[in-house]
Amino acid sequence: MRAARRLWIVVAMCCVSSVFGSVAEDLVIADFEGDTYVGWQVTGQAFGAGPARGALPGQMQVDGFLGQGLVNSFVGGDDAVGTLTSAEFVIERRFVSFLIGGGRGQRLALQLLVDGQVVRSATGSNDVPGGSEQLQPESFDVTELAGRRAVVRIVDEQQGSWGHINVDQIVQTDVRPRGYLTNVERTWSARTRYLQIPIRNGAAKRVVTLLVSGREVVRNDMELADGAADWWASVDISGYRDQEVTLRVDRLHEDSGALQNVEAVDQLRGDDSLYAEPLRGQFHFSPRRGWNNDPNGCVYYNGEYHLFFQHNPYGWSWGNMHWGHAVSRDLVHWEELGDVLQPDSLGPMFSGSAVVDWNNTSGLGADGKPPLVLIYTAAGNPTVQCVASSTDGRNFVKYAGNPVVGQVTGGNRDPKVFWHAATKQWVMVLYVELEGRHTVHFLTSANLLEWKPASVVEGDRQGGRYLFECPDFFELAVDGDVSRRKWVLLAANSEYGLGGFDGLRFQPDQERLSGHRGRGFYAAQSFSDVPDGRRILIGWWQTETREMPFNQSMTVPLELGLVSTGEGPRLTFAPVRELQVLRRGTTELGSMELSPGQQNPLREVECELADVELEFAPGTARSLTLSVRGVPVEYDVVRQELVVAGQRAAAPLQAGRQRLRVLCDRTGLEVFASGGLCYVPLPFNVSSQNRSLHVEARGGTAKLQSLVVHELGSAWQRGSKQ
Ligand code: FRU
Repeated sequence: MRAARRLWIVVAMCCVSSVFGSVAEDLVIADFEGDTYVGWQVTGQAFGAGPARGALPGQMQVDGFLGQGLVNSFVGGDDAVGTLTSAEFVIERRFVSFLIGGGRGQRLALQLLVDGQVVRSATGSNDVPGGSEQLQPESFDVTELAGRRAVVRIVDEQQGSWGHINVDQIVQTDVRPRGYLTNVERTWSARTRYLQIPIRNGAAKRVVTLLVSGREVVRNDMELADGAADWWASVDISGYRDQEVTLRVDRLHEDSGALQNVEAVDQLRGDDSLYAEPLRGQFHFSPRRGWNNDPNGCVYYNGEYHLFFQHNPYGWSWGNMHWGHAVSRDLVHWEELGDVLQPDSLGPMFSGSAVVDWNNTSGLGADGKPPLVLIYTAAGNPTVQCVASSTDGRNFVKYAGNPVVGQVTGGNRDPKVFWHAATKQWVMVLYVELEGRHTVHFLTSANLLEWKPASVVEGDRQGGRYLFECPDFFELAVDGDVSRRKWVLLAANSEYGLGGFDGLRFQPDQERLSGHRGRGFYAAQSFSDVPDGRRILIGWWQTETREMPFNQSMTVPLELGLVSTGEGPRLTFAPVRELQVLRRGTTELGSMELSPGQQNPLREVECELADVELEFAPGTARSLTLSVRGVPVEYDVVRQELVVAGQRAAAPLQAGRQRLRVLCDRTGLEVFASGGLCYVPLPFNVSSQNRSLHVEARGGTAKLQSLVVHELGSAWQRGSKQ
């Protein structure tokens, strides 16, 4: 009786199986959730002692794995090698599915072995710098191997760039995983200005190659939307009129609509709301589409300020580094032009600078016009310094003899170049990561094309932390007195050193000093060749703008100074005076006393974009708070500190008074105090509902000398030229 019932059940299951295709439950071979690789054999160092919990030190963000753990062979970096082999199992389902990421190569693989022979193999998807650490679903069809005994072996025998592999969730399943198509292409005859590409933030990155008449022009990683797009990126094809342009995608799900949804257009989707988007900073530069980080190539040329920038035109996050380009006649109204440098065989286009080569030392000028020369890092393998030039400020050509500086170490980048008048030569200041320390190398050149090493500023004694990335170097007068000048060596986080420079070597006066006192300010660069000699700096402002087709922005341009303090000269920051052109309505309060409990003198004032100037003597007050659109900017009189939305910064009184300047945009605040010694940039999304202003004193009475609120207009001039 018992035996009969069991038989019946087996028969029933077979029937169900044959009618519905698959009912058998998945068999998990490994999910790597434990602390060790139980049951797996490990060789070499690359896989460590057990599964990783995401990214390892020095690795980009790793995602796309399931649960907490995964196999990550980046233990010890890209150079470590090893294997990981499972216990034997019987193939009992039609597919073996898994998640895989990391480098692409013959020596990086997840293999299925039967009788010691590799019968199936898969690899990661990255073989060029940049890329993505996202794991992607893959599978092997093993129907024909049913009943055989097998093992899975994960191999990392590759060193150098992308020499690691990531794996998770290896499962036997009867459910046919979605298939992929590889090297899928679509071709257009170029008659429109753009190809418009659907992007979905967070989607798997695909390698998209642009070919013109069959010749490969550029490859980018794009988070292509298989279905509905979050936003649309564009490839400018206007330069290829009537030629065949092809997009080739390395792999797509068999049911993806991504390529079908690409459109050839003249007018970009979303352009009707361009610069009016809810989180668009209205007087801070941001790119129309995609991601920006560092300002690059800041220079004044032919009557325009040029702002180039690290740009990912195809993603909301960092990647595909291009040089974007914008111009302005007044540092306030910017017009974005197309990207000028796109990744090439030497790698993605990392940060760098620009100079006007007035005497045409490079020979890159034409018809008596001095060239505008860009000096940038091509961050391939090796990482090298290159040159591009233009004689009209619009069209740029990469120098045929690139690179102009070979690799010093893998971590060399961000050349800042200037003309040193006293020694009549070009000087390059280059960040070099040397044996784990941050160093700055000085090189010199007569013609911008041939460079020789001059000196090295070592990391300081505090753990080699001296100046990290994106160095800038310039001379400033102390207290405006040109007979007392100091050289300033400034780093990405705005820490700086002051000292002397003889054309070859920088001699710092002291250990590094602190720059800005806020958050989200990085990789600032000063403009070269500014006609009136001001030293104007612009920083990457890390304003995160979720749900927008763009992300991040720049600070306002800042005029730098050096003032004497009890501790020696120190850097000051002030918004450039040109910003005043944006002032619309002005409310002015004259001198008055401010006491606790008093009615808010600004109750009648409302504004969205604001430039507020406030001067006071603290009197008996313990603090004075100016709230701008709900964001408290407090001056703590007792500690002589500024507290902006919780962020504290030293802000000494000057002659018993404090002057505050607060700029408020949709994406955050920039606050200046103590004559510019205290600069607090603070990115965050200001509540669109709150347009109020409020000022009050606590703990005593303060004397307000003046309070001026300027309502600002937008700097974006849509549809019209400046
Ligand atoms: C600083 C930085 C630079 C590099 C660039 C790449 O933010 O890491 O050192 O050149 O960004 O985008």
